[in-house]
Amino acid sequence: MTRILAMGDIMGKAGRLCLDAMLPRLRLEHAPDIVLVNGENAAGGFGLTEKVYKGFIEGNGIDAVTMGNHWHDKREIYDYFPRADRLVLPANMGNVEREDMGLKIITAKSGVRFAVMNVIGRAFMVEGNRDIFKALDKMIQQIPSAVRLRIVDIHAEATSEKQCLAWYLCGKVSLVYGTHSHVPTADERILDGKTGFVTDLGMTGAYDSVIGIRKEAAMLRMMTGEKKKFEPATGDPWLCGLVADIDEATGHCTAVKRLRLEMDRANA
Ligand SMILES: [Fe+2]
Ligand SMILES: [Fe+2]
Repeated sequence: MTRILAMGDIMGKAGRLCLDAMLPRLRLEHAPDIVLVNGENAAGGFGLTEKVYKGFIEGNGIDAVTMGNHWHDKREIYDYFPRADRLVLPANMGNVEREDMGLKIITAKSGVRFAVMNVIGRAFMVEGNRDIFKALDKMIQQIPSAVRLRIVDIHAEATSEKQCLAWYLCGKVSLVYGTHSHVPTADERILDGKTGFVTDLGMTGAYDSVIGIRKEAAMLRMMTGEKKKFEPATGDPWLCGLVADIDEATGHCTAVKRLRLEMDRANA
């Protein structure tokens, strides 16, 4: 049995501090073999830098970082991506050149070999994202059959789109989870006894906010249209994610457990 711990969009400094504070005890409690984060908001709320990526990999011992629509917000990531061997981009996003940029076969620090994929939705997302099903088919074809542990991060807004894709992937991969909404959903389950799934992992970051952004600026923009700079919030940090057990012989998921841990309460 292989245990996966995956955490949703790490939002800005509050999200990173929450991860730093909570991950050691999660490792003790759950003893995961593979640990994943979504890093699209990790640097100042928008995008990812080499420094923050290295903090995840070397500091937190993360095995792979998936991304989303904000992947390119920090321009340095374009140059750094070819050297970031544990970073995957949304394969079908309009500004991601090739589908194989959304797939990595990785040996985890525990020695377990796994495939991780990242795709982006099309409903209520930026224009120009390519066919998701075709991107997934292409990537799955490239995975050696011996690699049974297969994980997909579907970065999308619409819950229906994430569920359609999860059913499409049922039996083809071990675990599918959604990211991007920054709100955890309570529907974790195993599809058809094969593929673990949750519609959205939820954000790891400050929940005294509007999806991780300081609520005053978000409310002002919605109420008046005035565009005050969006900055990541800091209050009430939660870590949100999922623990999933996979049978490495079949690649099937045998257990899923949702995590929603409030840092201030845990440390009180
Ligand atoms: Fe996000
Ligand atoms: Fe996103």
